[in-house]
Amino acid sequence: MSDLLRASAIGTGRVRLDGPDKVRGLAPYAYEHPVEDPLHLFPLCSTIALGRVTAIDATAALALDGVVHVITHENALRLADTEDGELAILQDDRIGFRGQYLGAVLAETPEAARQAADLVEVTAEGAPHDAVFRPDHPAVREPEGGGDDIDTGDYEAAIAAAEIVVDQRYSTPLEHNNPMEPHTTIARWDGEQLTLWTSTQGVHPARQTLAPMLGIDPEQLRIISPHVGGGFGSKGLPHADMMLTALAAHAVPGRAVKHAVTRQHMFALTGYRPATSQRFRIGARADGTITAFGLEAVSSSSHTKEFPEEAIKPSRQMYAGEHRRITQRVLPLDVAVPSWMRAPGEAPGMVGLEIMMDELAEACGLDPIELRVRNEPEHDPDTGKPFNRRRLIDCLHEGATRFGWADRDPRPRARREGGWLIGTGVASATYPASRQPGSKARIRHEAGVYEVGIGAADLGTGTWTALTQVSADALEVDPDRIALRIGDTALPNATVAGSSTGLASWSAAVLAAADAFRREHGTAPADGVEAIGEAAENPAEKQFAMHSYGAQFAQVRVQEETGEIRLDRMLGVFSVGRIINPRTARSQLLGGMTMGVGMALHEKGELDPRFGHVVNHDLAEYHVPVNADIRSLEAHWLDEEDPQAGPLGARGIGEIGTVGAAAAIANAVHHATGVRARDLPVFGSDLL
Ligand code: MOS
Repeated sequence: MSDLLRASAIGTGRVRLDGPDKVRGLAPYAYEHPVEDPLHLFPLCSTIALGRVTAIDATAALALDGVVHVITHENALRLADTEDGELAILQDDRIGFRGQYLGAVLAETPEAARQAADLVEVTAEGAPHDAVFRPDHPAVREPEGGGDDIDTGDYEAAIAAAEIVVDQRYSTPLEHNNPMEPHTTIARWDGEQLTLWTSTQGVHPARQTLAPMLGIDPEQLRIISPHVGGGFGSKGLPHADMMLTALAAHAVPGRAVKHAVTRQHMFALTGYRPATSQRFRIGARADGTITAFGLEAVSSSSHTKEFPEEAIKPSRQMYAGEHRRITQRVLPLDVAVPSWMRAPGEAPGMVGLEIMMDELAEACGLDPIELRVRNEPEHDPDTGKPFNRRRLIDCLHEGATRFGWADRDPRPRARREGGWLIGTGVASATYPASRQPGSKARIRHEAGVYEVGIGAADLGTGTWTALTQVSADALEVDPDRIALRIGDTALPNATVAGSSTGLASWSAAVLAAADAFRREHGTAPADGVEAIGEAAENPAEKQFAMHSYGAQFAQVRVQEETGEIRLDRMLGVFSVGRIINPRTARSQLLGGMTMGVGMALHEKGELDPRFGHVVNHDLAEYHVPVNADIRSLEAHWLDEEDPQAGPLGARGIGEIGTVGAAAAIANAVHHATGVRARDLPVFGSDLL
């Protein structure tokens, strides 16, 4: 297993195989699959945050031309399993958050569906709700799955004995994943067989969740999703929009029902990153060595379904500190259901941790890179296992050289140009490296072409291309002789494109299938022969603490009179093992860093406590970085291979690019202005 796959196609910067079709409009997205005579769905959504539906009168809606059906909790299919509060929609009269699905109109045109939805009279009885996140609220509690607390050594005694204490609270707001392609589904029931054309990060995982709820066998549900226009975690788990479309289609057997979630509805119905509060109480010696590591993290959650945003994750393993107390808590509220957003846990967790490290460096009079060098743990403080290969310091040093860190005057407000204060900042990045077992790939040979089939997903990340390169090297043929098929439950099982495990997990299946194929059929196979292989667990994950690392550097300028913040440049160096495709890998890392810019300077869901919804629920008012916000952005990586990660020598890269990026910018803002930003995003008005 430790023998690395010989790289021939691997390592080359092939352009995206799906790119030409995508830009020419030839790649069918979920909503664009040709289906005959479809009906169009427009949902009914709750306008109150808590209560009960007392009556629904659809008379006027049904009288409208073209309206075929109105589905509500009174007539919807009863689900076989209602455990999942987010997905078990239209089963009773309860309302748990504003924006919740209460029903839907089906009509011959999208316009008629939308107009009719306005005509449905929903009467509801409201109850007092609570939508405000307060980390000190008495209802804050352990997550349902347990807090996974760490309490080792004598933390309080170590704090009392510490020469330097940093005791600060950091926060991150509601953040909303906004892929270009919204969540869309076409559903059609043909007898007991359901087909969903949808946009998902995992056709098989979605099927495993939805089929039992619908009371059908997995084989009775086919999910098709060849092209996905971005996900960022929001399409990692199936959300209620998929279920709504499936339930609605059940009422009109044989007819396809099309549903595209509007951008506004996405802010309530397809997941988002909940708010976090992170109180760090750190004790150190005067030389910067951390002796006591304390973190109380709390995240907002929903009564409808719990989702803890585990900001404690990176703190578990990042730095030394013998005496540790780390806890994760949640505050359930009457709000929409949060879910995965790129690097859940790590992205917000490294905001608090890495701004705290900047404050600790300042308190110790140390360079922030040197502080991190002094707190390198020998073993993983969380599990006690040895690290596989932890090259954080190499990333920091290489980044420092490339960025020009050595010339930096450490004093805040030391650099001024015209009316601008200029500052630089650094932060570490980390993300776990793992691979999921259970994916299967099927290789079939026909006329010199190897068809490789696996239910994998390409969210626009380049996995289609990279997996083709892996397949080519696994079979030792030119990539032009590989025809990859993905995104369909009719293909062999694949695990989710999530937790940066996609390519590693699917490649393991492809490698196993290639081995089996060559063993069974040799290098001059007959037409029509095939072989199947399955990904096993990576045994090294039991033995080692396996993570990727990186270093993020940022330079900002802040206008002295107005507080306007401009990001001058940003540079990241990452240790992620072997790079399968430098072109798509670079895009992944740059995209992740760009999301970090949004986290630092732009993105914030503004929740109105009176109504319990996010007010700025569109891309005009919820800001994400655009080209004009980005001047110079560079992503580099260490030249390395990681044999412990498997025969590819590669670790996942989907999420690490965004981790630490926001903290580097916040630290640069402090260096520029002397104002410490502890609550993201930092706006210019906070600096005046
Ligand atoms: Mo990622 S948030 O695991 O899709």
